[in-house]
Amino acid sequence: MGSLLIKNAEIITMNEQNDIFTGDIFIKDDLIAAIGTNLQNPAEKVIDAARRTIIPGFVQTHIHLCQTLFRGRGDDLELLDWLKKRIWPLEASHDGESVYYSAMLGIGELIQSGTTTIVDMETVHHTDFAFQAIAASGIRALSGKVMMDKGFDVPAGLREKTETSIQESVDLLAKWNLYDNGRIRYAFSPRFVISCTEQLLKEVRGLSIEYDVKVHTHASENQEEIKIVLEETGMRNIVYLDHLGLANERLILAHCVWLDENEKRIIKERGIHVSHCPGSNLKLASGVADTKGLLDMNVSLSLGADGAPCNNNLDMFNEMRLAALLQKPIHGPAAMDAKTVFKMATIGGAKAVGLEDEIGSLEIGKKADMVILNLNQFHTYPSEADPISRIVYSAGRGDVETTIINGKIVMENGFMKTMNKEVILR
Ligand code: GUN
Ligand code: FE
Repeated sequence: MGSLLIKNAEIITMNEQNDIFTGDIFIKDDLIAAIGTNLQNPAEKVIDAARRTIIPGFVQTHIHLCQTLFRGRGDDLELLDWLKKRIWPLEASHDGESVYYSAMLGIGELIQSGTTTIVDMETVHHTDFAFQAIAASGIRALSGKVMMDKGFDVPAGLREKTETSIQESVDLLAKWNLYDNGRIRYAFSPRFVISCTEQLLKEVRGLSIEYDVKVHTHASENQEEIKIVLEETGMRNIVYLDHLGLANERLILAHCVWLDENEKRIIKERGIHVSHCPGSNLKLASGVADTKGLLDMNVSLSLGADGAPCNNNLDMFNEMRLAALLQKPIHGPAAMDAKTVFKMATIGGAKAVGLEDEIGSLEIGKKADMVILNLNQFHTYPSEADPISRIVYSAGRGDVETTIINGKIVMENGFMKTMNKEVILR
């Protein structure tokens, strides 16, 4: 591996004390080996980051890399029509090569906009190709093949039997879980309750415990979806997941727009992680999640862009901004401040994936996952302006200068070092 010394940057650590200071970071191999002022460690490469800001890499807890190629399709539909008429036929049309390119395209966009870790849900088939793209690109990821063994207008190309769904998931887990020293992890990914049999969900519960991996699914995103769950199971969505034993700290639930008080209590008490996807919730007209209420209850909350077509870009800066803005008209201007959403985007995401000891903040001993921003195009008075507010309300993909994952520079000034021609056209 190697060593890298980054000098003279404004460092937003996101450590317990929320320290922000001007200083240096020394990276040795994949780890932050030193962080402080006036570091003199000899290094193979030195970056002078004066007038630059360093932040922990963003952790996005809900992404569909396989949907990146479908951007702009079904822009004006609600969830169930959008899935049936647009997304499922498109997912069914994938082959291995298109899954690989879709993943590479998505990862490129994520890395360019400062995301260093993702929780990704693939489609039914060809997920091995997405893992290959993840492996080659250098991004940190939890991913899994989507599981959907039940009805609801699923096209033939996506239909699967329960046993096949389980077997293929376990085979992928055997191949990819903990690959590259834990950079890649498997996550079981049942699509949502209405696409999954009770037997499948119960088996996923057992397997997630047996293999000590996460379960990543959608829940309570849309009112029609909730109605169908209620009709089929006689229970509210989260109550049903709890009934099956899936409601635990392994579970990452995307959306949770429509929860009643009992469901919020279950989420809190069981330690479930909620992935809030504000851009997607607006675009699919799903609703506005009560993130303020969940945060007041101390629920684990993080952010995700969802798939490219439910949002039209994968930029975490947009999600942070939307998460903050959405709560203001409902709960007042201080409902969700910049620091809160920045936390959700960094250490909050790290907690959701169970890697808070490894990523999410800039501290000695943690993995070197970080982003160097150039915020100088804004006309602010730096000595007065809170840097986190400047990032949340003004920054975007264009301000990301360098992205480092596992101590490796994966993007510098727009050049994707791990995704050049040789990698993509292997
Ligand atoms: N619910 C079930 N599948 C999906 C999907 O692909 N995207 C979103 N946003 N919600 C879903
Ligand atoms: Fe989704």
